[in-house]
Amino acid sequence: MTSKEVAEPASGDSFEVEFAGSGVTVTVPPGVSIVDAAAEAGVEIETSCREGTCGTCESEVIEGVPEHRDSLLTPDEQAANDVMFPCVSRCLSGRLVIDR
Ligand code: FES
Repeated sequence: MTSKEVAEPASGDSFEVEFAGSGVTVTVPPGVSIVDAAAEAGVEIETSCREGTCGTCESEVIEGVPEHRDSLLTPDEQAANDVMFPCVSRCLSGRLVIDR
């Protein structure tokens, strides 16, 4: 049996996040959370669990399509793309604008 290289899912790509409230845009590389990329750019997003389970980091989505990785939103809420949890969630559209 040969082991097959599994391609990184889209969520492994880097993407841009604009923090509308701060006027800051960052590139989020693979393996780095939006929260950490924000902190590096001086945008503090309050966190607690960092696992998508507590809701502390809930952020309004202004533009773009999040890849929801939280355990809080129902499928319908995820599909609405109104809010996201940037401690775990990523981006399917290459660019997100969130209210931070
Ligand atoms: S810090 Fe808990 S959901 Fe993001």
